[in-house]
Amino acid sequence: MNKPNRGGLEGIVAGQTRLCTVGIDGVGLNYLGYTIEDLTEQASFEEVAYLLFYGELPSGSQLAEFVVRLKRYRGIPAPLKTILEQLPARSHPMDVLRTGCSALGTLEPEGSFANQVHAAERLLACMPSILAYWHQYQTRGEQIDVELDMDSMAGHFLTLLHGKPPSETHRRAMDVSLILYAEHEFNASTFTARIVASTLSDFHSAMTAGIGALRGPLHGGANEAAMELIERFSDPDSAETSLLAMLGRKEKIMGFGHRVYKDCDPRSDIIQRWSKKLCDEAGNQRLYAVSERIEQVMRREKKMFPNVDFYSASAYHCLGIPTQMFTPLFVLSRISGWSAHIFEQRADNRLIRPAAEYIGPPTRNWLSMSQR
Ligand code: ACO
Repeated sequence: MNKPNRGGLEGIVAGQTRLCTVGIDGVGLNYLGYTIEDLTEQASFEEVAYLLFYGELPSGSQLAEFVVRLKRYRGIPAPLKTILEQLPARSHPMDVLRTGCSALGTLEPEGSFANQVHAAERLLACMPSILAYWHQYQTRGEQIDVELDMDSMAGHFLTLLHGKPPSETHRRAMDVSLILYAEHEFNASTFTARIVASTLSDFHSAMTAGIGALRGPLHGGANEAAMELIERFSDPDSAETSLLAMLGRKEKIMGFGHRVYKDCDPRSDIIQRWSKKLCDEAGNQRLYAVSERIEQVMRREKKMFPNVDFYSASAYHCLGIPTQMFTPLFVLSRISGWSAHIFEQRADNRLIRPAAEYIGPPTRNWLSMSQR
């Protein structure tokens, strides 16, 4: 007997990619053949972004030139600053990024597909500035200078956010998290961006759509939802009691489970180690102990493992990042993966247009108004 179609395109191969393997045989994550373990041990986020944009790791001089270009592209055009200043202070920062991306597409349109790599580098460099500029304007009324002379995106963003350069531990923690979030095959937001690109639409439309798809709590929004959960508990025992009650009510626990990985999310172990290090350093034992207990209960009760978003929450919290900026940080990184997928889609394009199984009424006779 055929399994009922539960929708969601589960297990459907919807195209080809050379960018990433997710969970082949249930485990592992590679970007263009490099394991996520090697990349987070050895690479900077900028090297990973270069790898995704250009298909190979950069040489020393290629990396240096790439970093110089990104630094040059960090500025925000004056009309976009005005737009950001008009957005309500209560806006969700994901909406600010979506608007910022779309507005940049009107001020600096891609024009031709020949400019796609420039558009991608510009967006990668400018989006952290957009997020931090809006945040500082709305919270402190300050029109900050976003064009700082800092090489890494992690250092640049944390400096704009906190008004002072981060410690090397904090900078590298952010760098690793950006590497972990950079790329993940045909996830919902990447697939969204590819669908838009497949209509031969412009780069900024595809990226804006990707941001919209990432926002939901079943996808990128899970890191914020996980933090909101963890923060509710004063100690591990009360977390366990509440979690059991939530599971009893069949509630989903954000930051757990995955469509593709069956035994573990390889990104989770890496960010968990950083979460532990940052919680120890901050003396925030409660945050880590509560997180660990939630993980234990989920493994015991549901045989479920944390995905990348769960321990990202406590790690980001220790970096002093407001919870509503967790998913936006995911965007800042995933711009690299989305861009690479748009390039790949365009290089061998065919309109993405699947079919649906019809479950509506059979063909029937038209009813005049008096017959209804
Ligand atoms: N907590 C509790 N139960 C869960 C969870 C969870 N986090 N995830 C899945 N389940 C249960 C479902 O209730 C369902 O049970 P049922 O068969 O009794 O109805 C079963 O496991 C299958 O769940 P689906 O939602 O059908 O699985 P799917 O493959 O569609 O979902 C998903 C994958 C969306 C990630 C899911 O596990 C989930 O909602 N997790 C929480 C949100 C989350 O963390 N998202 C981030 C994913 S990683 C990323 O995007 C970067």
